[in-house]
Amino acid sequence: MLSQQSRPLIAATLPVIGERIGAITTDFYRRLFAAHPELLDGLFSRSHQRSGAQPQALAASIATFATHLLNHPDTLPEHMLARIAHKHASLGIAPEQYDVVYKYLFEAIAADLGDAVTPEVAAAWTEVYWLMANTLINLEKSLYSRQANDTHWAPWRVVAKTPAGSAALTFDLAPADDTPVTPATPGQFVSVRIPTADGLRQVRQYALITPGGLERRFTSKRDDAGEISPLLHDTVQVGDVIEVSNPYGDAAPATDAPLVLISAGIGCTPMTSMLSHLAARPAAHPVTVLHSERHLETWAHREQMLDYASRHGKTTVHLWVTGDDASAFGAPAGTTLRTGRMSLAEVQIPANARLYLCGPLSFMQQVRDEAIALGVAPARIHHEVFGPDAWVAA
Ligand SMILES: Cc1cc2nc3c(=O)[nH]c(=O)nc-3n(C[C@H](O)[C@H](O)[C@H](O)COP(=O)(O)OP(=O)(O)OC[C@H]3O[C@@H](n4cnc5c(N)ncnc54)[C@H](O)[C@@H]3O)c2cc1C
Ligand code: HEM
Repeated sequence: MLSQQSRPLIAATLPVIGERIGAITTDFYRRLFAAHPELLDGLFSRSHQRSGAQPQALAASIATFATHLLNHPDTLPEHMLARIAHKHASLGIAPEQYDVVYKYLFEAIAADLGDAVTPEVAAAWTEVYWLMANTLINLEKSLYSRQANDTHWAPWRVVAKTPAGSAALTFDLAPADDTPVTPATPGQFVSVRIPTADGLRQVRQYALITPGGLERRFTSKRDDAGEISPLLHDTVQVGDVIEVSNPYGDAAPATDAPLVLISAGIGCTPMTSMLSHLAARPAAHPVTVLHSERHLETWAHREQMLDYASRHGKTTVHLWVTGDDASAFGAPAGTTLRTGRMSLAEVQIPANARLYLCGPLSFMQQVRDEAIALGVAPARIHHEVFGPDAWVAA
């Protein structure tokens, strides 16, 4: 909770900081990397810096946190903080690094706002920073303590590379040393650290497509304009060893309600994990799978998802294709196939269902708006963004 001294100062300065925070975080990263270039080797993604996605996500998270402290003084934005903590933990962020971030963030704030940052204003925002930082540090400590090891990056050997649809490859990994393996839960992801041509390592996250447990299998869709997925597809070979984090993420499917799993494109990977987990248990509640693809042949986990759906017994599958005329070919067995954009109005959403969304941001925003318009409570809609999440803070 914010102190009585800081509250009016934060309320008075939030509008101006909120307006400038995007420019401030961009300048912050410039300062941070100038002083600590080593943070670009195997920690921060240069693509997320170039596209501005990471400065934007940091800005949104700070603005959301401060707004939340003012509007809901007795609670914290737990969902947002959990998302950040899981991402941080998958990267091995340590408590002492928060002092480094503080130093350059506050230098950037002072440089941008000049005299407006009086000592009192600086002290109030310092309080906000450390409320947020200490909450994240505690969450991250708790996540680290649940692991079977204290190694952030363990070596795993690629034992198989298998096509998954026409645009993705599935990687099967086996431990390459005796580091104890943390069992994963359904819907979790791992960070993968890969050396690039100029010698710097880059990290990316991949959802596990296993039901959880000790196996490590993920599917990467090739992004020709990206840095790491082309390396995974073309350079990393069966027999090679790559660095992989422990599993993180809290997207495990609820067991107390009907589920609606909604995905587009490669967003089907966490849904595959959840379905595989559900298929292995007695079906307590119905599951509705809604999936959208541009072309049927790019659907990465078509066979697996349909197989798990039929094994579960209470799962219905609806598919939309946006780039083909669905009437030109039959629906895959066990599915209802439609042409065009997904519309929730075309299916039955069970009352009290929990919705899980994964896919491009614009797709998730459209589906979420539609779900809310149909009466689904926002708290029952969960989403996973395959990149820095600025939406979670919106
Ligand atoms: C929790 C989580 C789970 C994920 N699970 C999966 C999964 O199961 N399967 C999967 O395939 N992916 C998954 N991802 C995404 C994955 O981590 C990578 O982001 C993805 O593979 C692309 O990485 P890349 O290195 O090839 O592309 P990047 O180098 O990260 O580039 C991504 C895009 O950014 C664009 N870009 C680069 N620079 C700029 C610029 N200056 N301006 C504008 N745009 C720019 C590039 O054109 C490219 O299209 C997941 C991500 C998260 C966070
Ligand atoms: C209070 C302080 C901090 C806040 C508010 C914060 C916020 C965030 C947010 C919002 C994200 C994006 C999460 C997502 O993917 O959705 C993120 C990612 C990240 N954070 Fe932090 N963070 C803080 C401290 C730190 C520290 C101390 C470090 C270590 C140097 C760090 C390193 C990273 C890295 C490496 C990523 C991933 C970036 C990428 O994908 O390029 N953060 N953080």
